[in-house]
Amino acid sequence: MEVIIRSTYEEMSKVGAQIVADVLNTKPNSVIGMATGSTPLGVYAELVRMHREEGLDFSQVTTFNLDEYVGLPTDHPQSYHSFMHEHFFQHVNIPPQNIYIPSGTTSNYNAFCEWYEQRILDAGGIDIQILGIGSDGHIAFNEPMSSLASRTRLKTLARSTIEDNARFFDKIEDVPIYAITMGVGTILEARELLILANGKNKAAAIAGAIEGPVTSMITASALQLHPSVKCCLDADAASELTMIDYYDWVQEKKPGAPRL
Ligand code: GLP
Repeated sequence: MEVIIRSTYEEMSKVGAQIVADVLNTKPNSVIGMATGSTPLGVYAELVRMHREEGLDFSQVTTFNLDEYVGLPTDHPQSYHSFMHEHFFQHVNIPPQNIYIPSGTTSNYNAFCEWYEQRILDAGGIDIQILGIGSDGHIAFNEPMSSLASRTRLKTLARSTIEDNARFFDKIEDVPIYAITMGVGTILEARELLILANGKNKAAAIAGAIEGPVTSMITASALQLHPSVKCCLDADAASELTMIDYYDWVQEKKPGAPRL
């Protein structure tokens, strides 16, 4: 895992966006795994800026979102469909037919989940998956004790996640209790993973995920099993890591490393 620490959220977001842009510039028809939440907003804003000012082209891109609340219609202001449209899709040139977001309103969740997994395979797999992390260490909506081999499925949200996400709703009772989410196993099949975290309230989860044992209690710790992970943090999110000196040393020495 490559751990990249920047002092501010803005700087962290720029690094994250550049990592995504590098994948896209190498492979214009990349398949990008998208995440919701406040964390990736800075990366999306920077990618939108690159699209507008530098011509970063999304016309051949396909996207798959990690998750969606069950029961919210796509046009509900707090659905992840609305979130993605508002913060990213309406500002770039991804063909609408190339955008996939799990359905929170299907009549057959099992069939939908199988279809979603098959669509990812048909698209050639995900080239880079963007991830945030929950304060309980979850990725997507893979709450503690989710199987590290899990696939796209229906999940019951943890109380702590419902409380964390209540800030986006009028009252906590309005937060959906169920979600449809890619599994940890699905996420681990992406060729490259980019996990982002900022703020003190993510510091414990990040320390557990990066430096703790691999455990389904912190599903983000499964990233330790993936050969190509970049972890972009601000200083607050990195504040409980014990190996910061080494991570900074690796970044500092990177330009001088022998070319493969
Ligand atoms: C939700 C999403 C996750 C996200 C997490 C953190 O639970 N399903 O994908 O990582 O929230 O959200 P935020 O970035 O707002 O802290």
